Amino acid sequence: MLPGGNKDFQDACSTMQVPKTGVFFTTVGSQEVMLSRDRQGEIVAFSGFCTHSFGRLEGGEIEEGEITCPHHGARFDTRTGRSKSACPNLPKFDVRIEGRRVLVRPDR
Ligand code: FES
Repeated sequence: MLPGGNKDFQDACSTMQVPKTGVFFTTVGSQEVMLSRDRQGEIVAFSGFCTHSFGRLEGGEIEEGEITCPHHGARFDTRTGRSKSACPNLPKFDVRIEGRRVLVRPDR
């Protein structure tokens, strides 16, 4: 448990691991997490599972702010999690920055 009332947040990675463009994948608890930066450069976190049929997005092609799921080609905006196809948007997770660590709360 982290101090300061952050008990639901879990350490995900260093701020340095989240690129200015592109994404960084990690696991927080049992949740696959995709971290990226929004248009303001703030770190944001989304489920790393595709909303089509829950394949892992890791390894998907990334181009111009979009990731294409490697399984059946669903596309998502890496900055907002918004779906670019018929699938639902990626679930977004709360993020806190403490020093150089990125904390994520994978379940609301
Ligand atoms: S699991 Fe991602 S497109 Fe099917």
